[in-house]
Amino acid sequence: MEQTLSIIKPDATKKGVIGKIIDRFESNGLRIAAAKKVQLSVEDAKKFYEVHASRPFYNDLVDFMTSGPVVVMVLEGENAVLKNRELMGATNPKEAAPGTIRADFAESIDANAVHGSDSLENAKIEAENKLKEDLKKESDQESVTASASSSASESDIKPENEKVS
Ligand code: CMP
Repeated sequence: MEQTLSIIKPDATKKGVIGKIIDRFESNGLRIAAAKKVQLSVEDAKKFYEVHASRPFYNDLVDFMTSGPVVVMVLEGENAVLKNRELMGATNPKEAAPGTIRADFAESIDANAVHGSDSLENAKIEAENKLKEDLKKESDQESVTASASSSASESDIKPENEKVS
């Protein structure tokens, strides 16, 4: 079964629409294989987006992605990469088709509610990323547990048992 990485960004977690966004995935045949709410460090964000390191928006992107908690998820399903991209809509919410996550929940190209792997190739690269490594460890655990590092903004989810909403 195909997997893709999804991140609910700080603008959406601040707005309180985590549950609504997850509902879009689950209602459209994508299973939440793993999920974790985390505060990314600058180092995490830089590494995750290093493909954009030479782009003019890179520093603003890293600042934004570390400005509040995010929800990192592994979505699983048939054609998960493409399906996730269709559900998200265009990168710029002003160009996103009506009914897509970005059209409904995002404000701007910078604060655009969600990230998703843009190709199977990048889904694999992102799957190797530390973020997914963390998720793998979490989904191996037996039950929902409080975060070992117990930061106030961090919570762990055993996705079979509980939704993040
Ligand atoms: P995302 O899918 O997370 O991948 C990189 C992010 O950079 C993108 O969403 C946007 O939020 C942000 N970004 C800002 N400016 C641009 C731009 N001109 N082109 C593409 N992405 C941009």
